[in-house]
Amino acid sequence: MKGIILAGGSGTRLYPMTSVISKQLMPVYDKPMIFYPLSTLMLSDIRDILIIATPEDEENFKRLLGDGSSFGIKLSYAIQPKPNGLSEAFLIGEEFIGDDAVAMCLGDNIFFGEGFENTLMQARRNAEEGKATIFGYYVNEPGRFGVVEFDKEGKAVSIEEKPSEPKSNYCVTGLYFYPAKVVEYAKTLKPSNRNELEITDLNNIYLKNDKMEVVLLGRSFAWLDSGTTDSLLEASSFIQTIQKRQSRVVSSPDEIAFTKGWISEEKLERIVEKYGNSSYGNCLKKVLEDHKKYVEKRI
Ligand code: G1P
Repeated sequence: MKGIILAGGSGTRLYPMTSVISKQLMPVYDKPMIFYPLSTLMLSDIRDILIIATPEDEENFKRLLGDGSSFGIKLSYAIQPKPNGLSEAFLIGEEFIGDDAVAMCLGDNIFFGEGFENTLMQARRNAEEGKATIFGYYVNEPGRFGVVEFDKEGKAVSIEEKPSEPKSNYCVTGLYFYPAKVVEYAKTLKPSNRNELEITDLNNIYLKNDKMEVVLLGRSFAWLDSGTTDSLLEASSFIQTIQKRQSRVVSSPDEIAFTKGWISEEKLERIVEKYGNSSYGNCLKKVLEDHKKYVEKRI
């Protein structure tokens, strides 16, 4: 199973902040935004991940994340020269994906909630068995997103991209699991009215073929995007609230790598040293302390 993080786009809704730095490198509380989708893919047990960025930003992502070995994973990089749509990621990533199933997470999507790891593992199994999975989330203003239409039995029947009259409150989040051969479907897509290869068109193919599961994330679950000034601030406040209460880090690739046994205790100690007295570094220090206090005692 492969993973893709799409971190392209020009981030115009965050100008002037994103004039010289990628949106996905903006801080969401104590860590760069891209740590969140990276954590989501790592929680899905995906260790081979392609980061797709703009030509200007690729180098910065490499400086931040390197080849992934510090997280016990493999990271590669590719360029999306122009924002030609989310489905283009599968054309850019064709060679990387090869014959595998693939999950894609958008670079500004944040997921947080109990049981998420199990949800992800089920989606992964689906993809490996030939069925796609997307996630629906109840929102106030569904018209800003892809929106799911349900029939009388509550079965998802279609998805509309940014409809002026949304047929439900359930929007499609920016996390997608596809079986092998998604590239072949992506190749059949035509640009939409806004001249993009839409992810919604790809998802509708799977829905029509009855090869798609739409998993609804419940009301105790948080799905946030962070692409506007308000949503960026709200996401930061949300993460701050959770982390301060428990002093437990949310969406840390370092913690996940350690918990999954992909990096050793000594390696995490060195990372903690490197990050010194930052709040992120202190949270990782706590991960090590808690490991000794609770995990080793199976509490
Ligand atoms: C994209 C997708 C949309 C989806 C959203 C989730 O929107 O096109 O279907 O609901 O991501 O973040 P965009 O970011 O292109 O506005």
